[in-house]
Order: sequence, then C-alpha cells, then structure tokens
Amino acid sequence: MNMIHHLLLVIIIVFHITIFKFASARVPLTACRSYCGNLTIDYPFALRQGCGHAGFRDLLFCVNGVLMMHIPSGSYRILDIDYAYHGITLHDPAMSDCYTLDRSPKGRGNGFVVEPWRAVYLQPDRDNIFMLLGCRSGSPLFQGFPNKHLPCRSNVSGMSCDDYYRCPAWDGAGIRSSAYGNSNPPECCAVEPAAVRSINISHLQCEGYSSAYSVAPLRPPGPGAWTYGLRLSFSLPENNDGFCGACRSTGGVCGYDQDTHDDVCICGDWNSTSNCDSLGLTAMAPRTELPGFLATLAACGFSFLARWMFKF
Ligand SMILES: *[C@@H]1O[C@H](CO)[C@@H](O)[C@H](O)[C@H]1NC(C)=O
Ligand SMILES: *[C@@H]1O[C@H](CO)[C@@H](O)[C@H](O)[C@H]1NC(C)=O
Ligand SMILES: *[C@@H]1O[C@H](CO)[C@@H](O)[C@H](O)[C@H]1NC(C)=O
Ligand SMILES: *[C@@H]1O[C@H](CO)[C@@H](O)[C@H](O)[C@H]1NC(C)=O
Repeated sequence: MNMIHHLLLVIIIVFHITIFKFASARVPLTACRSYCGNLTIDYPFALRQGCGHAGFRDLLFCVNGVLMMHIPSGSYRILDIDYAYHGITLHDPAMSDCYTLDRSPKGRGNGFVVEPWRAVYLQPDRDNIFMLLGCRSGSPLFQGFPNKHLPCRSNVSGMSCDDYYRCPAWDGAGIRSSAYGNSNPPECCAVEPAAVRSINISHLQCEGYSSAYSVAPLRPPGPGAWTYGLRLSFSLPENNDGFCGACRSTGGVCGYDQDTHDDVCICGDWNSTSNCDSLGLTAMAPRTELPGFLATLAACGFSFLARWMFKF
C-alpha cells in the first residue's frame, strides 16, 4: 500500500512538471532577433513592436538592407552595434571629417538630439568628442561665460580641436583661431558629451560639426587615425538584468507591453510579467491563463484519482 502511495505521488509530480514545461513553451530566439544587412538586431533592440526593451522602441528601421536609427535630430545609418561593450556607431553624411569641412551659415549635419525620455537609455559615449564649427558669438554655448568659452574643452579623451586643425580639411581654411571670448569665438569648439546633453546644430547657432572617437585603450596617434562618426552607448535599468535573465532561462524571449511599456516575458502563446515557469500572467491577455488552468485541472484530476484508488 505504502509503495503504491509513493508511486502515485511520483506520477503526480512528474505529470505536474510535464504540464508546466509544456505551458512554458520554448520560444525560438528568432521570435525577436533579426538581421538587417549584415547586422544582427538583438535585445534590447528589435525591429518588431513588443520585442526588445521599451527604451529602444520605435528607434531602428531596416530600409533595403540598411539599418537606420530615427531620433528627433534626424535619421542615421547604423554602422555597428557592439553588444559586448554596449556601443553603437552612427554615420551622419553631413558631418565634417578629416578631409572635408561641411559647413553652411544655417548649419550642416544632424548633431545629436534624442527624446528626453530616451536619454537615460541612449547617450553619446564618453570617448566621443563633438567639435562644433563656426558657432556664432550669440550661441547659447558662450552665454554666461563672458570673455571665456568655458564649454569648449582643450582635451576630450585625449582629442582636441588643436589636433583637428592639423587635418587636411583645414588646409587653406584660413584662421585656425583658438580665440577666446564671445566677441571672437573659436573656429572649433570641442565639447564633452556630458557637458552638453544634446547637440542641436541650429540651436547652438553653429555652421556644422564633426564627431570622432578613439577606441580605448589604444590612443590613436593623430586626427587622421580617429574614427569619424557618432559613438553612442546604450544602457538598461539595473533591475532589467534579473528580469530578462530569468525570462531567458525559462525559455522565454524578453519584450515589452505595447500599452504600458512594462517588461514582458514572451512565452510562446502567452506572456508573463515574470518568467515562463511562473504564473505571473499579464492582465492584458485572458486567454493566456489557459495552460496554467489546464495544469491545475489535470493535477486536481490526478489527485482525485489517487484518493479514489486508495479507497480500495
Ligand atoms: C557589413 O557590410 C558593410 C558593407 O555593407 C561592410 O563595410 C562591413 O565591413 C560589413 N561588416 C561585417 C562585420 O561583415
Ligand atoms: C505577447 O507580447 C507580445 C509583445 O508585446 C505581443 O506581440 C503578443 O501579441 C503578446 N501575446 C499575447 C498572447 O498576449
Ligand atoms: C588628455 O586627457 C587624457 C584623459 O582623458 C589624459 O590621459 C591626457 O594626458 C590628456 N592630454 C593632455 C595633452 O593633457
Ligand atoms: C533644434 O533647435 C531648433 C532651434 O532652436 C528647433 O527649432 C528644433 O526643433 C530643434 N531640434 C530638435 C531635434 O530638438
């Protein structure tokens, strides 16, 4: 009798586990991962609504095999996404580099401006230098700093405007002033990303800009060896690590709720607010309660059957 009792208990437990494993269906990684050209788009980025993290929603678009990023300052081609170092490299065709100065009185180039709510997720990398070109004396950059141009730095991550002036682009470009004061603003003003959160070329009344970065820890020998482009870094809230880790380890794929923008664990034909092994069901989808309900029903049935058998 005791042995049968134990056997039935084991059967009940195994059945329970089987049902719950079935409920937590393995979602193929490709549910949210995709490709654009030769770039892999993976968490926290995604091309599909509800995939990835909400901080990066409505951001990336694949246009004829070219991955584009849309932010308020403009559309940029994405050259690289570095998932290990949380870096993204963008290209702005209207940006000046070591060989061409792209300037116009009304300002050339997009600069870098993101939506205020997105700024915590996406910001210029601290190894990225912005060099603002030909900013007028009335620029907000120089306001509040009479006779000085404090926001203009002489060394940003080992790079400076004085280095940039040595580029072929500046040959025959006349004065390479490192003048001070808003009566005589410098031709080039290097700013640290942290000092100026957004680079709005027309708001700052500049004629153009250049952006470059040096990949640490190798310090490039000079401006010709800098990489021209915008280097951004992306980050996620700290508690996201735990959520997404638990979701993945139970066979789910991390996403977000399109209405509330809360984290969601996509578990095949149902979504969980925690992970695919728990019944943290989202309130939004009533039909997702079915697997859990079936599991409980089956377990109850088995328990009943067991008790009924013990009577004999
Ligand atoms: C991806 O393709 C671009 C051209 O479309 C090329 O410049 C780049 O080197 C390629 N990157 C890799 C990692 O293959
Ligand atoms: C689960 O969430 C994803 C992403 O928001 C959504 O596309 C899908 O329709 C949801 N599934 C259910 C069953 O609610
Ligand atoms: C510029 O700053 C870097 C640190 O960001 C420092 O290592 C380097 O020595 C500085 N260079 C000059 C010329 O001050
Ligand atoms: C940049 O500044 C201009 C002028 O202040 C403003 O009209 C424009 O909306 C700003 N662009 C962005 C993306 O914030």
